[in-house]
Amino acid sequence: MKAEVKDIAIYGAGGFGRETACLLRMMDTGMSPRWNFIGFFDDGITFGTENEYGKVLGNIDTLNSWNKPLAIVFAIGSPKTVESLYSKVANANIDFPNIIGPGTIFVDKDNVKIGKGNIIGGRCSISCNVEIGNFNTFNGNVIIGHDAIIGNYNSIMPSCNISGGVMIGNRNFIGVNSVILQYKTIADDCVIGASSVVMRNIKQPGTYVGNPANKLEF
Ligand SMILES: CC(C)(COP(=O)(O)OP(=O)(O)OC[C@H]1O[C@@H](n2cnc3c(N)ncnc32)[C@H](O)[C@@H]1OP(=O)(O)O)[C@@H](O)C(=O)NCCC(=O)NCCS
Repeated sequence: MKAEVKDIAIYGAGGFGRETACLLRMMDTGMSPRWNFIGFFDDGITFGTENEYGKVLGNIDTLNSWNKPLAIVFAIGSPKTVESLYSKVANANIDFPNIIGPGTIFVDKDNVKIGKGNIIGGRCSISCNVEIGNFNTFNGNVIIGHDAIIGNYNSIMPSCNISGGVMIGNRNFIGVNSVILQYKTIADDCVIGASSVVMRNIKQPGTYVGNPANKLEF
């Protein structure tokens, strides 16, 4: 049977957007759907600007007047920017698939709940009874333990280890190579510094760094 082909574009033409274009290309295994990558949308880079993977097709206004079905992936590291952009999309032609990179393992795919618009980069591992909301990024080699619950718009950088039973709220940025110990919670709007170890529940927005992770007072 011939695989269905769908148009897809990436919102965000920066480094992460270009990486996501590579991810889409690596996913082209002939399985359905096959993604036909048509280019980037970006509000800060001029229409027609080209990188090695494609052209900038326009901005949010262009997207809102797109007149045929198009899948969009937000490839933007800032959780608040992703949330804000999604709130501006007003076009029934647009949908937001989950992008699951090559080598990602679902320990029990029948026992995972997952929303829409998530990027799960290559070689992630998702254990059993995990809940993942919408528009999260797991930027490669991320491990998510059993019974973890992850909200919306979180950006989880490469090689993070989210242990079993962890609860993560919304709009958190978790720096590269961080570890969240089992059954700890992270509320909303936090930044966890690179290589930090979260050993206590984090209840307040803020920036937390180190091992153990402590709040940075600016
Ligand atoms: C936490 C972070 C956001 C803070 O950035 P910032 O607001 O610019 O803060 P500064 O660099 O001024 O650092 C402030 C203090 O925190 C310390 N600090 C910053 N990041 C730290 C980290 N990850 N671990 C331990 N200490 C850290 C600094 O040494 C500095 O300490 P000092 O005041 O005693 O000198 C940033 O350092 C970070 O870790 N970002 C994550 C990067 C990442 O994962 N990117 C993704 C790559 S794929």
